[in-house]
Amino acid sequence: MAFPPRFLDELRERISISEIVGRRVRLQKKGREHLGLCPFHTEKTPSFTVSDDKGFYHCFGCGAHGDVISFLTEAERLSFPEAVEQLANIAGLEVPRASAAEREREKRQVGLHACIEAACCFFERQLRLPEGKAALEYLRSRGLDDDRVRRFRIGFAPERRGSLTAALAREGFGVETMVEVGLLKLSERGDGHYEYFRGRITFPITDRRGRVIAFGGRALGDQQPKYLNSPESPIFHKGKVLYGLDAARERVRDTGELVVVEGYMDVIALDRPGLPAAVAPLGTAITEDQIREAWRLAAEPTLCLDGDAAGQRAARRAAERALPLLEPGRSFRFAALPQGEDPDSLVRGRGEAAFREVLAASLPLAELIWRLELAEVRPDTPERRAGLQRRLEEHTRRISDASVRRYYRTDFRARLAAMLGETGGSAGAPSGWRGKTGQQRRGGYAVGAGKPTRRNAVAPAAVLGRRALEGVLAALLNHPQLVGEFGEFVATLELPEELDSLRHEILMISGSGEELDATGIRTQLERTGYGGVVHSLLRSTVYQHAPYARADSDVVVVRQRLEHIAGQLQRKHIEDHVKEHLGRLEDTSPFDELERIANLSAHEQKRRADDEGLY
Ligand code: UTP
Ligand code: MN
Repeated sequence: MAFPPRFLDELRERISISEIVGRRVRLQKKGREHLGLCPFHTEKTPSFTVSDDKGFYHCFGCGAHGDVISFLTEAERLSFPEAVEQLANIAGLEVPRASAAEREREKRQVGLHACIEAACCFFERQLRLPEGKAALEYLRSRGLDDDRVRRFRIGFAPERRGSLTAALAREGFGVETMVEVGLLKLSERGDGHYEYFRGRITFPITDRRGRVIAFGGRALGDQQPKYLNSPESPIFHKGKVLYGLDAARERVRDTGELVVVEGYMDVIALDRPGLPAAVAPLGTAITEDQIREAWRLAAEPTLCLDGDAAGQRAARRAAERALPLLEPGRSFRFAALPQGEDPDSLVRGRGEAAFREVLAASLPLAELIWRLELAEVRPDTPERRAGLQRRLEEHTRRISDASVRRYYRTDFRARLAAMLGETGGSAGAPSGWRGKTGQQRRGGYAVGAGKPTRRNAVAPAAVLGRRALEGVLAALLNHPQLVGEFGEFVATLELPEELDSLRHEILMISGSGEELDATGIRTQLERTGYGGVVHSLLRSTVYQHAPYARADSDVVVVRQRLEHIAGQLQRKHIEDHVKEHLGRLEDTSPFDELERIANLSAHEQKRRADDEGLY
């Protein structure tokens, strides 16, 4: 029902919002505002503020936000007119009577809701009748127990023409109403109506308040289309609704977690204790309205997408759609499902833990964008790095919230800097490898750290052969004053086992702070049982390959050689790091077509995206 805006303003003016909220939430006065425990999510410390001055409530925890009317519609689940009515009573104002036309429209909407609700009951009944036997068996075969069937109000639209129409007519609904709400369609020949859903399992789609507004209908077998959704109607706007929202609301309060999945069956499959609440758009990519709708429930919903190329494109599109809408504290995470699985098949096939793992591996939005961009073009030349920087900047600029934008800019710059610091910044200059004087890198390599980590160990072995590695160690044994300087470099070398423990020992001795010459360090190593390895290192075959390593080489020459080798390794490290970046995407998420996609031309990508009708 449309109320004159002036009347609503007056209502808000006269009513103190803290008083209305205070009926439900214990509020404490804090300066000009009131503070309490948020009624829209579970919390232990109050982050729910109410401002009489502004006439708003706002929760810094979950982002719930609104005025006195929306408080009643949200917290007490009144309809808008009901809320207005109640407030008008309190304020002692008379509700202006709607015009005849408005009353007419209002009545019609009520009629539409009633009609589709009646249809829902009809479908539910059919599922229990002999006609619905196959459908019920199908649902059972998909692991749906009676309880779920009942809670999600799953039903069956019989094949027989006219049965729904007759049933609804008996309840007093006219054909026109059934057409308007999308239950009936005019036949192509124009000589009558037929039911929109026939021989399909029906999933009622509800609005925020739990009223049925449309259906999704699934074919029992392989008929196409697999799913049919109600057409748009005065009460159903596909792009604004999330399937399962009403049921999810309750569950989010318990878990604080919300996932956005793709299908009806996924929402239903996730409806188990211990799993997060789930909602789904209706067969399309998530819209702006749906993003906002999801944020009403949770600050950082997780989008679960297929782990294939299509899922990745969907992730990109969702990311792009979300950027302009970001607000402080509000974002999305992205989870990639194992190839060929959806949440339904995953939970039923591999158990809840498997789904939990998928969620645990989810990426924050900024990380996702970074990875997608890295995958787009390998940043292995200065031009490509500049290109990467520009693309990141373009993403950043699309964020409308100034504060979020600023933090994104900082975040992307830090990522670029970290990547360039490791790979491009001073490529070839060995100073970065140095232990005590060189700057500490991210995940820095501590001198004497013992076994190099997987991450540190990427490049060296691939470049340096066994002889070269022996040369490096021989050089250090003969010129121990260089150990401190090249310690970090040495720590990252991937060495065969016996040399690895020798290296460790050398770094330990050097790290102990004792100033030792070549004889001193050899004596120590012999004492700790490394005599044999040392002996095998300091022999002619090693010196043949690494003449610089000899004891009588000038220390300046030895340093130059070591710097040269370190530089080579670092250059190799650049390439490997970039590869590793891409590689890690493939490790941690099933987006394993990244490389292939990165190699597709932009044109080709667009063409394929367009072919993907769904998104
Ligand atoms: P999926 O094809 O992934 O179906 O479509 P699903 O949800 O896994 O269904 P089951 O497990 O085979 O029963 C995901 C969603 O896309 C929409 C539906 O909303 C579906 O839930 N869709 C799919 C359609 O609207 N029409 C279709 O023909 C197929
Ligand atoms: Mn499925």
